[in-house]
Amino acid sequence: MSILSLRHYPDPVLRRKAQPVRQIDPTVRRLVADMVDTMRHNSGVGLAAPQVGVSLRVAVIELPEEPVIVLINPQVVKRRGWRQVEEGCLSYPGYRGEITRAEKIVIKALNLDGETIRVKAEDLAAQALEHELDHLNGVLYIDHLENQDKLYPLETEPPQQAD
Ligand code: NI
Repeated sequence: MSILSLRHYPDPVLRRKAQPVRQIDPTVRRLVADMVDTMRHNSGVGLAAPQVGVSLRVAVIELPEEPVIVLINPQVVKRRGWRQVEEGCLSYPGYRGEITRAEKIVIKALNLDGETIRVKAEDLAAQALEHELDHLNGVLYIDHLENQDKLYPLETEPPQQAD
């Protein structure tokens, strides 16, 4: 297993619509294992294959205290509600943005055994799923910003005292 290098905006692979996985073969298994390593190495809660330069519909999610979810060819089944969230992306480092995401989402996908799974999620988990599914369609969270004022640079140093 290896840690892969991350693609950053404006790398064109991030803007491409990723291709469906046709067969869950050793190459796909290896990709998933490497994506999990890469996600953990970068302290991410999710990662999509285009972020490591592979234009395939594969994503992994790992929320605190939860098992890894592997999503192959995921599709949204249902979305409900909306909420304002703060979001960042490993492929757009140094910033956070305020956008709107679904409150609840149901998706279906294949797991590594080729079985169809349904994942029901809300709040942070729903946000992570929508974020990763967006990547598979060449969409980044910055595309959901109402305006540029909703994008904030991350502080690299503590704020200075006013005096
Ligand atoms: Ni991202």
